[in-house]
Amino acid sequence: MTTHPTTPFDGQKPGTSGLRKKTAVFMQPNFLENFVQATFNAIGGVRGKTLVLGGDGRYFGTDAAQVILKMAAASGAARVIVGQGAWLSTPAASNLIRKRSADGGIILSASHNPGGPNEDFGVKYNMANGGPAPESVTEAIFARTKEITEYAKFDAPDVNLTAIGESHLGAMVVEVVDPVSAYADMMEEIFDFKALRGLFHEGFTMRMDSMCAITGPYAVEILEKRLGAAKGTVVHETPLPDFGGMHPDPNPTWAHELMVEMMGASAPDFGAASDGDGDRNMVLGRGVYVSPSDSLAVIAANAHLVPGYAQGLKGVARSMPTSAAVDRVATALGIDCYETPTGWKFFGNLMDAGRVSLCGEESFGTGSDHVREKDGLWAVLMWLNIIAARGQGVAEILAEHFERFGRNYYSRHDYEALPVDQANAMLNDLRDRLASLKGTQNHGLIVENADEFAYTDPVDGSISVQQGFRILFEGGSRVVLRLSGTGTEGATLRVYLERYVPGPAGLNEDPQEALGPIIRATEEIVGIRARTGRAGPDVIT
Ligand code: G6P
Ligand code: ZN
Repeated sequence: MTTHPTTPFDGQKPGTSGLRKKTAVFMQPNFLENFVQATFNAIGGVRGKTLVLGGDGRYFGTDAAQVILKMAAASGAARVIVGQGAWLSTPAASNLIRKRSADGGIILSASHNPGGPNEDFGVKYNMANGGPAPESVTEAIFARTKEITEYAKFDAPDVNLTAIGESHLGAMVVEVVDPVSAYADMMEEIFDFKALRGLFHEGFTMRMDSMCAITGPYAVEILEKRLGAAKGTVVHETPLPDFGGMHPDPNPTWAHELMVEMMGASAPDFGAASDGDGDRNMVLGRGVYVSPSDSLAVIAANAHLVPGYAQGLKGVARSMPTSAAVDRVATALGIDCYETPTGWKFFGNLMDAGRVSLCGEESFGTGSDHVREKDGLWAVLMWLNIIAARGQGVAEILAEHFERFGRNYYSRHDYEALPVDQANAMLNDLRDRLASLKGTQNHGLIVENADEFAYTDPVDGSISVQQGFRILFEGGSRVVLRLSGTGTEGATLRVYLERYVPGPAGLNEDPQEALGPIIRATEEIVGIRARTGRAGPDVIT
């Protein structure tokens, strides 16, 4: 064991999902070591503890895993459970932490950000409940990064991470496990695999785009091997260090190959994609795109058809900018619906307290209390199980859902890389005018209320303020505006547009057209185009 002197690096402040930086930044001597040692120090050391370790297969992941193993050994950890090849999807890591009663875990990923020597890398610490560290812990880690003077690292050759089995690094056990099997077994407990095998046996066709990222091996094992979907159902199924140059973010813009196939004449019955680390999802039917907010609502309305939720849902939760489609389902089911700020971490307390079993966000995240992360393949299997149980395709399920609950037309418009000062000035100005907006008429829409969202966690009482601007119009339409917390260049303004149509008329419009009046009213009130000089949004989902 060697103790190495070191000096602090600036900017090792973990964000919502751990520390994310350009890979080259992480590869500087001592950068990773400092952050890992600060993490160990902040959690009271790792002596005698069991940790889970793995990541999404991106460039530098196996090197980082070797460093972390040697550091854990030097700090007295008892055991580290590592996915073979240093692979673990984020939901699979969350599951292993819980199933193996580990003290915590380290996930090596920058989620849906591209990977490679010139792209992004990330390190995230998860707690014993399997969920991301709360702010109190990430703040403590950050504080330690600023005062670090040394780190401990075991002097030893690299551990063989390619073969399953146990070895020792000093007194510490390194247990290399199949990254997929425990996760696939859990899915088998939740879903009706017999019905799903029947579905594929009857000729149901599907395309799963794993975007050269971590869900490939999981999807091949579950969909093709255990459920009998045709070979080749999963595409881009081999995780590559640079994701094959893909931007592994499952949305209509980045999963364009899948979009083209699903909107084309020879589309399969069902399509899905997941992101770099496997926690996001996008689902599609033949010729239909399912918005994440609608997906959450449909899953909530049909969850009882899935064995793991046959007893009903305890409650549901969504982030504030996510559409209120799921609220209508919750009302019909007579269960609670919580509205939280953006970020999966806000759901953890609600799940741990047994208040909700299903959560979702407009940012392509859906999940349940089976783990403490969102879960891309789980969402795909929810849809497949619902399709099998109802004997209907995606388009029919959506149409019936809208007929029953009405439709929350929804779209998100992103203005990327705005000058930070300009974006701040625009929103500060809106904040100053919020109170006076009430009652004003803009392009025919009357403002019923306007405020800035604040949240008091019902479990621990913690308060989060300034979580986005809400402008509610008479008739149930609204626009929400907030700055992205994950952007890497300048400021990204997100504009979330929503309009409720009860039906039966008007359930089949193009969302951008249905939202036209709100788009125009927003421009009149906020002046995004006028103030930024942009002709329109960069990304529309
Ligand atoms: C990450 C989190 C999500 C959150 C999203 C928001 O993906 O895991 O829970 O919804 O960031 O990103 P934004 O860029 O809108 O702040
Ligand atoms: Zn992710």
